[in-house]
Amino acid sequence: MKAPSPRLAALDSTTSLPSGRATPREGALDEPERRVVRQLVEALLFEGLVSFRSAPRAPGSGFAAIYDRDFAFRLGQVPVRCVGAVSSFGRIRVAEGSIEHRAHGVWREAPLRQLVESLDVDAEARQRLLTELTQTVALCRWNRAHLAHHLRPRRGLSFQELESALHEGHPYHPSFKARAGFSLEDHRDYGPEAATCFQLQWLAVDARRVRTALPEAPERFWARELGERVYAELTTRLTDQGASWDDRALLPVHPWQLRALDGPALRQAFTERVLLPLGPAGDRYRASQSLRTLLNADRPEASHVKLPLATVCTSSPRHFRAHFVCTAPAVSEWLGAVVGEDPFLRDRAVLLREYAAALFTPSPRAQGAAAPHGAEALEGMLGVILRESVVTKLAPGEEAVPFNALTVVEADGRPFIAEWLDAHGVEAWVARLLEVMLLPLWHLLVHHGIAFEAHPQNLILLHRGGWPERLALRDFHDDTEYVADFLRRPELLPDLGRIDPYFDTVPDDDGYRMASTDDLRELFTDTAYVFNLADLSFLLERHAGF
Ligand SMILES: Nc1ncnc2c1ncn2[C@@H]1O[C@H](COP(=O)(O)OP(=O)(O)O)[C@@H](O)[C@H]1O
Ligand SMILES: [Mg+2]
Repeated sequence: MKAPSPRLAALDSTTSLPSGRATPREGALDEPERRVVRQLVEALLFEGLVSFRSAPRAPGSGFAAIYDRDFAFRLGQVPVRCVGAVSSFGRIRVAEGSIEHRAHGVWREAPLRQLVESLDVDAEARQRLLTELTQTVALCRWNRAHLAHHLRPRRGLSFQELESALHEGHPYHPSFKARAGFSLEDHRDYGPEAATCFQLQWLAVDARRVRTALPEAPERFWARELGERVYAELTTRLTDQGASWDDRALLPVHPWQLRALDGPALRQAFTERVLLPLGPAGDRYRASQSLRTLLNADRPEASHVKLPLATVCTSSPRHFRAHFVCTAPAVSEWLGAVVGEDPFLRDRAVLLREYAAALFTPSPRAQGAAAPHGAEALEGMLGVILRESVVTKLAPGEEAVPFNALTVVEADGRPFIAEWLDAHGVEAWVARLLEVMLLPLWHLLVHHGIAFEAHPQNLILLHRGGWPERLALRDFHDDTEYVADFLRRPELLPDLGRIDPYFDTVPDDDGYRMASTDDLRELFTDTAYVFNLADLSFLLERHAGF
């Protein structure tokens, strides 16, 4: 799977290549900082954000032989060098601890802050980046100091446990734990790694300010989701405030979000009784690795709850895009029909459907009604999407692992999948994995004209004793793409304009509909290969000689 980087040939640099280098120095940076520095440099090189030169590695350095090239570049005026490799899809892999910069005529391991300060970007962008990266380091350090995930092999953990234990986070994005606005206490209380359980907060919202897409009447729906007892308790808290469900809608809120939103807009909404606080209630939840999607800790088979958070992680704001919430059930139903009516996909792909959604809309629903002054601050900030739990989908003997478990290395120095490779043979296992993972995604793309964002966090592997069986997919509401002329079953496509008039006028490329199959190809290639299987391939190269 090795391909030379097209970028490598295209780039040039005036920096001279390093000649010889010291063996890795111990103790310069700690592991969290080294990891962030490595991912930052890998991204800068791979994305072509800096020009670099590379040459076969000079003898004498102590890094693993797989890192077979020396790289040299400049950040601003500062010369930087490192040891690395070009792996499949041109991904650049830098040996951790090998990144040095020259300061006062001496080559030294480059600390994060100095590297970022050397970057040739405007001051504001530099500060933002530094804040995100520093927070990522801080949360990684906290994890290492307070949790034991990195100390013992995680093989054999349940799906729910793995969603916490896979503390590594995004393997490519440098600010993989930016979680803007999260203090260390918030990280402990609401981050996936610590697996702290908490109850959701509940609001009764003026029904004119809520859009819903529920599969049945709200009262029946919530009574079934929460259980009669919890729903009755919430109803009592509502009537105690002189209100009723006749003109109110129920909405869960992440407890962190309620605090984060505290400000003029939220206070005004409480004062004007647009929002009535009902307090915490119901089952306990804990964060999945996506942070904003929560797993039910009391009933693993109960739905996963996705809630907007006013934070930024891996460069994306994590509140909801208002037009992509209430469409979720229709999109899931559509994909469910496509898969359900296709014998090839039916046995291979499991969809974790987003079957219910609701969104607080700061302005009343009347056409053209303006939002109260300042209320736009709450746009996309309060809402919910309910998603089926993977636990309900398992056939007898099947187990589920988050797909990114396949690329991590355990405390014993061997891959998470080591025993599976031993048991089945590397070649047979990889062939089976590709069949189980790629064929459904490929079929969806070329047969049905639909691309799914298949990055590792959205995929779940169903297996028996490590032997891949089926692929489960989650998270359809934001990034599913299709090209109208290439749909195999256009009659199944939902009329999204009926759910939200936005989709009647939205141009190609701004909604789910793309103008060109190139967009679908790009989504597929990036998420299935470049930022997914490329990591598996690099792991197999390092640990299985494959
Ligand atoms: N390999 C990965 N690829 C993409 N996102 C990842 C990966 N590993 C961890 N993540 C994290 O997952 C989150 C994305 O999840 P999100 O789309 O918000 O929720 P969900 O998939 O539950 O609907 C981001 O915060 C991102 O940092
Ligand atoms: Mg996702």
